[in-house]
Amino acid sequence: MNNNTKILEDFELYLRENLPKVEGFHPHFGNALKEILTAGGKRFRPMLLLSVVDACAPLLIKNSYPVALGLEMLHTYSLIHDDLPAMDDAPLRRGHPTLHVTYDEVTAILAGDALNTDAFYRISTAPLSASIKIELVKILAKNGGSDGMVIGQAIDCEFEDKVLKQAELEFLHLNKTAKLIAASLLMGATISEVNDASKEAIYNFGLNLGLLFQIQDDIIDATQSEEEAGKPTHNDKHKNSFVNLLGLEGAIKYKEQALKTLHTDLKKLDKNLANRLENIVKGYF
Ligand code: IPE
Ligand code: IPE
Ligand code: MG
Ligand code: MG
Ligand code: MG
Repeated sequence: MNNNTKILEDFELYLRENLPKVEGFHPHFGNALKEILTAGGKRFRPMLLLSVVDACAPLLIKNSYPVALGLEMLHTYSLIHDDLPAMDDAPLRRGHPTLHVTYDEVTAILAGDALNTDAFYRISTAPLSASIKIELVKILAKNGGSDGMVIGQAIDCEFEDKVLKQAELEFLHLNKTAKLIAASLLMGATISEVNDASKEAIYNFGLNLGLLFQIQDDIIDATQSEEEAGKPTHNDKHKNSFVNLLGLEGAIKYKEQALKTLHTDLKKLDKNLANRLENIVKGYF
């Protein structure tokens, strides 16, 4: 078993043992939260965070699980809201019916709200120093909120059927997807207390990795079946996706170019970390 597989397995166990426990007499709210968190998903962001810690400060790996779970909770909230009828109107996620389909929109909206808020509780109560935890909260809030994922999602929805220029398209995807992926790596680097120059290099690598991730996601929408993707595909017709802007061939070429840039960027990182990240890139793209 390689290091990455082991990390994923251990994280999955941690997640299942530390699911949200909802008190009270609501008939299904607690189940809704557990259902969507355990439905699967690639766990790409926790994997990035934990791989950085494992490469740079392995003794802190266990202390980092609550932070990785908080990150996955925030990401999961973004997916629940992304699937709502007002946004992408998707009935399937991670191979399971979405919460607004199984239950109702109120449950889906509030499950998203709960995961967003609870994410910061998990981070703030992790067994790490107070100053590191403040830094982690700051990074996740900055990259996940109005200067990151949320503004990206707002632009994504506002500009349906309105074609963006290439620079605007990059702004959209940088915010919608890349910043949270870059934040995942930066959070790992923060826990590991690497120096500022390394943090900057890791974050910049993460932005390019995140763009690549979204290009691949857009290609998946155009090329896979719903069964393969675990979510509706051919669903981006109104979106400023890379495929709609560049065509499928163009998007595939763009992805290959982005992969080359990533490999160049990897050379700017510490060798041990670069090897770990290279393995992840090979596994996902
Ligand atoms: C989907 O994210 C949303 C995007 C940012 C493209 P993932 O592809 O990481 O979804 P899961 O977590 O594996 O379900
Ligand atoms: C959503 O992008 C990105 C988020 C911030 C949730 P998409 O709308 O392309 O994600 P999928 O394809 O539904 O997973
Ligand atoms: Mg969307
Ligand atoms: Mg969507
Ligand atoms: Mg998509």
